[in-house]
Amino acid sequence: MSISNSLFLKALSKEELNTPPIWYMRQAGRYMPEYRKVRKKFKNFLDMCKEPDVCCEIALQPINAFHLDASILFSDILTIPDAFGLGVNFIENEGPVFTKPIDSPVDVNNLAHFNPSDLDYVYKAVTNIKNSLPDHIPLIGFCGSPWTLAAYSIEGRSSKDFAKTLNFIETNKSETHELLSKYTDACFLYLRKQVQSGADVIQIFDSWANLLKKDDLQAFSFDYVASLITALKIDPVTKNTPVIIFARDPDCDSEVLMTTGADCISLYWTMNNFDIEMSKNKVALQGNLNPKILLEDKETIKKETFKLLSKYKNYPGYIFNLGHGITPDIDPDKVKYLTDIVREY
Ligand code: CP3
Repeated sequence: MSISNSLFLKALSKEELNTPPIWYMRQAGRYMPEYRKVRKKFKNFLDMCKEPDVCCEIALQPINAFHLDASILFSDILTIPDAFGLGVNFIENEGPVFTKPIDSPVDVNNLAHFNPSDLDYVYKAVTNIKNSLPDHIPLIGFCGSPWTLAAYSIEGRSSKDFAKTLNFIETNKSETHELLSKYTDACFLYLRKQVQSGADVIQIFDSWANLLKKDDLQAFSFDYVASLITALKIDPVTKNTPVIIFARDPDCDSEVLMTTGADCISLYWTMNNFDIEMSKNKVALQGNLNPKILLEDKETIKKETFKLLSKYKNYPGYIFNLGHGITPDIDPDKVKYLTDIVREY
């Protein structure tokens, strides 16, 4: 079977299908014992991401376990700030911590020049994964949205309210826009290299879209996502590569997400009012299932999943996924069960 048989690519081109393609955000990760076994060998998570053979082994774990319809590059969105010299470390139970976060407007002016070849380890992982996958399984490359990368870079760590970031962008508007422009250019070069190395699809993660109110969301995030997608749609290397936008709980109307120019909108699990009649035949849709459902018993999983599948039954180009990533507390057997019942439906 060749890539032209891919259910996932067919859905991305808005074909009506009898069964939706299936993949999961964070499909490779701590909930899998196979992952934890490999992870034990590395102290710093990013050191593991810098080993292309290890990334390849991990990316294939969920494909082998659940026979999913798409693979996603094993890496992280924070490789870009790391390449900008901000010093990203992952600390156990704390998540990412930056040694040199953006503290002042001068830090933005003094930011190192982005050299895409500093991330050669990522492109090598893309090539290795692509070469190891069955021919008909596409590979998703990805990056964080410029806004989400900027939020981590200013905050310097994960946070509930990102108070430092929200204060910084309010008081230093022009430097914030300078930072967002630099990250947009870097994301473009990074994604272009991923596509050159074998990525078939691109997903942009705007995981901190929920921090911004409507107008700021447009100005600080979606305008930059739109220029990133425009650049991808013009470039000869990336112009035919489908782009998926994931935004966490965005404060906006359905139409606004469409104006980013993405081919597919990945719906967060709270986005139940997204106007699917309006978006029909214009964009593909993905996700929307509450990831916490995987903590319930099988009967509940089945009931909620079938409810969701009936909602998207006649939607041309629906891709089955969760409304956010699989969390470490999930039993892999539940992931297998969920995958099986979607195919049975
Ligand atoms: O199959 C896959 O999706 C794996 C590839 C992948 C990872 N991170 C691996 C990872 C992808 C696509 C990401 C994206 C990512 N990284 C996002 C966007 C998606 C989302 O969840 O909204 C974000 C916000 C990050 C930043 C990040 N990476 C944080 C905050 C953390 C620590 C907390 C956490 O969620 O785990 C990470 C670490 C990380 N990235 C792990 C994995 C498997 C766990 C690291 C470990 O084993 O210690």
